[in-house]
Amino acid sequence: MSTANKHDSGAPAARVVPVDLGDRSYEVCIGRGVFAFAPGIARKKLGDKCRGAFVVVDSGLPETAAQRAVAALRAAGLNATSIALIPTEHDKSLQSLGHIVTEMTRRKLERSDVVIALGGGIVGDLAGFAASVYRRGIAVIQCPTTLLSMVDASVGGKTGVNIDLAGDGADLKKNMVGAFHQPIGVLADLDTLATLDDRQFAAGLAECIKHAMISADFGDANLLGWTEANISGLSKSNAPLLAELIQRNVAVKARVVSGDEREEKEGGRALLNLGHTFAHAIEALPGARAVLNNGTELPGDVHHGEAVALGLRAAARTAVSLGLVDTAYADRVGALVDAAQLPNKVRGLPTAEKLIERMSHDKKHIGGNIRLVLPCGHGTARIVENPDVNAVRGTIEAIRA
Ligand SMILES: NC(=O)c1ccc[n+]([C@@H]2O[C@H](COP(=O)([O-])OP(=O)(O)OC[C@H]3O[C@@H](n4cnc5c(N)ncnc54)[C@H](O)[C@@H]3O)[C@@H](O)[C@H]2O)c1
Repeated sequence: MSTANKHDSGAPAARVVPVDLGDRSYEVCIGRGVFAFAPGIARKKLGDKCRGAFVVVDSGLPETAAQRAVAALRAAGLNATSIALIPTEHDKSLQSLGHIVTEMTRRKLERSDVVIALGGGIVGDLAGFAASVYRRGIAVIQCPTTLLSMVDASVGGKTGVNIDLAGDGADLKKNMVGAFHQPIGVLADLDTLATLDDRQFAAGLAECIKHAMISADFGDANLLGWTEANISGLSKSNAPLLAELIQRNVAVKARVVSGDEREEKEGGRALLNLGHTFAHAIEALPGARAVLNNGTELPGDVHHGEAVALGLRAAARTAVSLGLVDTAYADRVGALVDAAQLPNKVRGLPTAEKLIERMSHDKKHIGGNIRLVLPCGHGTARIVENPDVNAVRGTIEAIRA
């Protein structure tokens, strides 16, 4: 595994995963207190011309998180200010983008300054997109504060916003407008997870299970087995195990991204969409509610990671129907999802026909056809164009509560 431990004197201990992208390469640092590396990364990558830092903060974080971040950057001699963003899929919009870049202009951010995205995946996607367009592109350091954004969203340079066609969320097109904009560094500070609730923590595990289901082709053939063996011990309070989980997941994502930065190659970045065609159809659905294996209905909107978990289950069942994997493999996926306290059904789904229509409108489908990433067993997956619609219909009925 291409990782190393960083033990500079006085600096926090960190696990480091490189993302190899030629002159856009960077490191993902994982550990307690690693936000302290932010000024050093800015100086190293941008030089002395970097004088300003603009921190885009997730409003779900305690107020002290923003204050501490700004204080650390100022102590290192940077002129730092911050704004808070409310992270909902509705607010992941062009309007919010306009608000951020207007504030950046008002605060006279220069081209050589840096944006710091401090929050979950929504803040990371929004602040990253703002950095990609402000003055035709300035640097961003991603500082993820949810498990999901640590293992997935902060790495790889995809940024963007949703387009809400109906205006009420009923026809929300996820990540419709955006840019590839690699960060100059990623700082996954485990201390920030202290305030994350259990439901959001579980949502992050869904992307870890997804990585485990494709990892064999990306240098970690045993990630599925390791995840199964450790899932019950994973928690915010078990920092060493958590650091290993994040390191191994980031390493898989980094290898996928290094081989196919812009999602152009067969068997490359598109495989990260495993479960996501189902997920995007469910996630944007007003009134849909996730239901756990024990029958408990989770209040409010289905979270992104929860929709991914339902999508992974659905993809595994579809793969069984198409003869790509045996039932035992789909059961392994289901058992992992259950062990992570993630939903196994969803209430409030429309007819299977309507949902299939939503899936075929997903922007990841070429020419309006359905295109699914499906597991093939042993931690591998592949793309299947136009799968038998009866198999997809059966799967939808199986996850309907
Ligand atoms: N760019 C990519 O490659 C990529 C990959 C995967 C997902 N995503 C996107 O990421 C988003 C989902 O990200 P997410 O799961 O992090 O959700 P999120 O950004 O909605 O955050 C979830 C919730 O946790 C709160 N929160 C964040 N950090 C916290 C902390 N430390 N303590 C307490 N509360 C905290 C937030 O305020 C929010 O209410 C989706 O929009 C998805 O499309 C992007």
